[in-house]
Amino acid sequence: MLIYLNGEFVPKERASVSVFDHGLLYGDGVFEGIRAYSGRVFRLAEHIRRLFDSAHAIRLAIPMSLDEMEEVVRASFRKNDIRDGYVRLVVTRGTGDLGLSPDKCPTPTIFCIADTIALYPSQYYDEGLSVITAATRRNAPDALNPRVKSLNYLNNILAIIEGQAAGAQEVIMLNQEGYVVECSGDNIFLVRGDALVTPPTHVGALAGITRDAVIDLARDIGVKTDERMFTLYDVYTADECFLTGTAAEVVPVVSADSRPIGDGKPGAMTGKLIEAFRELTRTTGSPVYTDVLHA
Ligand SMILES: Cc1ncc(COP(=O)(O)O)c(C=O)c1O
Repeated sequence: MLIYLNGEFVPKERASVSVFDHGLLYGDGVFEGIRAYSGRVFRLAEHIRRLFDSAHAIRLAIPMSLDEMEEVVRASFRKNDIRDGYVRLVVTRGTGDLGLSPDKCPTPTIFCIADTIALYPSQYYDEGLSVITAATRRNAPDALNPRVKSLNYLNNILAIIEGQAAGAQEVIMLNQEGYVVECSGDNIFLVRGDALVTPPTHVGALAGITRDAVIDLARDIGVKTDERMFTLYDVYTADECFLTGTAAEVVPVVSADSRPIGDGKPGAMTGKLIEAFRELTRTTGSPVYTDVLHA
C-alpha cells in the first residue's frame, strides 16, 4: 500500500506523522472520506471544496490548489490500483510544540490513504437499521460548527458508544434545542407522504455530499425535499426513514428508539433512491484511469 504523505507516495510502514502533530494532540485539522466506483471518484470536486471550506473556517491555509488536491486523490487510487475503494484525505495543522497555539505549526501535514472499503453488510439494505437517540447532543454550532469536517470527532464517538451499548447500528443526534440534526456519521431523511424531509445544515448537521446527491436525485423523479427542523415525534411517525453517507450510501432505518417506522420494513421511496444512487455512482465521477476516461 502506498500512501500520499506531504508531497510523496511512501509505503504504509513509512507513513508516519510526528507525535507533535496538532492533528493528533488536539484534533486540529480537517478531513474527507471519498469513494471511487468503477475507476471514477464520486463527486470529487464537491469533497475537495468542502475540505477547503472546512480548512478556511478554522483558518488553516492548505498549501496547494483545489485541482492539485483532486489529483492527490486520483493518484492515491491509481498508485494502489484501486477501482472501487475509499480514501481518507487529511490535512492537519502540522507539527508544533505542546502548546495549543497553531502559530507554532508552520506547515500543515497532508496525507491521503486509499483502501478498499469495508462495505456495510447487505442485510442492512435488505432489512434496514435499528437506531436509538443518543443522549450526547451534537456540538453547538457556536462552539465547534458541525459543518466543519474537523478531526475532532469525539462528540460523535461518544454517541456511537451509547449506540453500541444499546445494540443499535447508528444513533440519532439532537441539537441543543432538541431538534433532530443528523446521525454520528450520516445525514437523516424522513419520507412523509410523497415528500422528503431533512434537517437544514445550519441547525448543526454536516452538509453531506450524499445528502446533496439524494436531494438532486429526488428532484429528478419529481420528489420535493423540505429542509426543515423536526423532532423525534416526526421520526417515530414518518412513513419511511433513511440515512445517507459516503460509507453507508443510502440505507433504510426501520426502527427508532424501539418504535417501528412505517410498517417496520424498508420503504418503497427509500428503495427507489437506493437504486437511483447506485446508478449515479456507476455512471458519474472523476476518472482515475485513462481507460475509464475513454470508456
Ligand atoms: C457527522 C456526519 N454527518 C454526515 C456525514 C455524511 O456525509 P457525506 O455524505 O459527505 O459522507 C458524515 C460523513 O462523513 C459525517 O461524519
